[in-house]
Amino acid sequence: MRARYVPILLAVIVLFVFGCDKLTKYGEKKMSIKKQAFGKTADGKDVDLYTLTNANGLKTEIMTYGGIVRTLEVPDRDGNLGDIVLGYDSLDKYIENNPYFGALVGRCGNRIAKGKFTLNGVEYTLATNNGPNHLHGGVKGFDKVVWDAEPMEDETTSVGLKLTYLSKDGEEGYPGNLKCTVIYTLTNDNELKVSYEAETDKTTVINLTHHSYFNLGGHGSGDILGHELMLTADNFTPVDEGLIPTGEIKPVKGTLMDFTRPMPIGARIAQVKGGYDHNFVLNNSGGSLALAASVYEPNTGRVMEISTTEPAIQFYSGNFLDGSNKGKGAVYNKHNGFCLETQHFPDAPNKPGFPSIVLKPGDKYTHLTVHKFSAK
Ligand code: GLA
Repeated sequence: MRARYVPILLAVIVLFVFGCDKLTKYGEKKMSIKKQAFGKTADGKDVDLYTLTNANGLKTEIMTYGGIVRTLEVPDRDGNLGDIVLGYDSLDKYIENNPYFGALVGRCGNRIAKGKFTLNGVEYTLATNNGPNHLHGGVKGFDKVVWDAEPMEDETTSVGLKLTYLSKDGEEGYPGNLKCTVIYTLTNDNELKVSYEAETDKTTVINLTHHSYFNLGGHGSGDILGHELMLTADNFTPVDEGLIPTGEIKPVKGTLMDFTRPMPIGARIAQVKGGYDHNFVLNNSGGSLALAASVYEPNTGRVMEISTTEPAIQFYSGNFLDGSNKGKGAVYNKHNGFCLETQHFPDAPNKPGFPSIVLKPGDKYTHLTVHKFSAK
């Protein structure tokens, strides 16, 4: 009689042991956050590098300098991890010449024409660092400052790093003391989340974004022209020679900007003067989290899906990379990485038809972007 129950008992024991083992690996063993020193800035500020690892072995290293994602390792279709972001080996290289690899960008990402705008009848003049225009926060934007960091270790489904920075009234020409918090979270669902919050004590403008250069084939694997890109954007904002929007919002249908169905990045790039560096107007006009982009790399099978609460996304095809950027054992040439920067529209302070980027005292700026990784 009793012998009949032995296999059942054994099965229960095996299931229990296996289950516990998984639980341990998941909850305690593998998920971690580690801190190491990563050098000093010219003015003597210590910079740290945090390594976040999720329960599936996905790993990212984030620096307190610029909130920069230095590495991001995700699996291919065979489960092999590969580092899919462009970056450098040392802090000095980032300080010397960084085309915003992996960085947090602010106070205003993208361009503001002639670095000028008017708020409540007062004209403000910002630092100009892109010909006559203001780009990505100016000469010393949020990508070049040291953020305060606090690991968020007590979670069970994710591991996070909270970064804070106070941008002082007048910094790079912007009005108001702006208190910013950015939380990077690596979840056990293989997502890298970037969540932003900010408050000001004087009316100002704000447009924060994240500027990783991705190459889903691996950061040193050559160009990204074979990646298939889909954008949930029926419209885009045409630009002039200096990449300043003309103010129009045009349908992508029938143009080189149509990525509403998956399309290799390289399919039409030769016809796009200078390559892609355009702001796409997302069909979800902002506020709630919705899919903005999906990218597939056929050789490795890696997929990245980006969801955001922002109303737009800048697609930049690494046009200015010219081989002078060497990092992590690789040389980065033209089109060796692409950026998908979730944001409000460029030059919004000077374009009354674009969604406003004004932040008033008492209001809170919020922005959430989720990068989800898988393979097929
Ligand atoms: C953004 C801009 C590009 C370029 C890169 C950095 O994506 O739109 O024109 O400035 O950043 O090189």
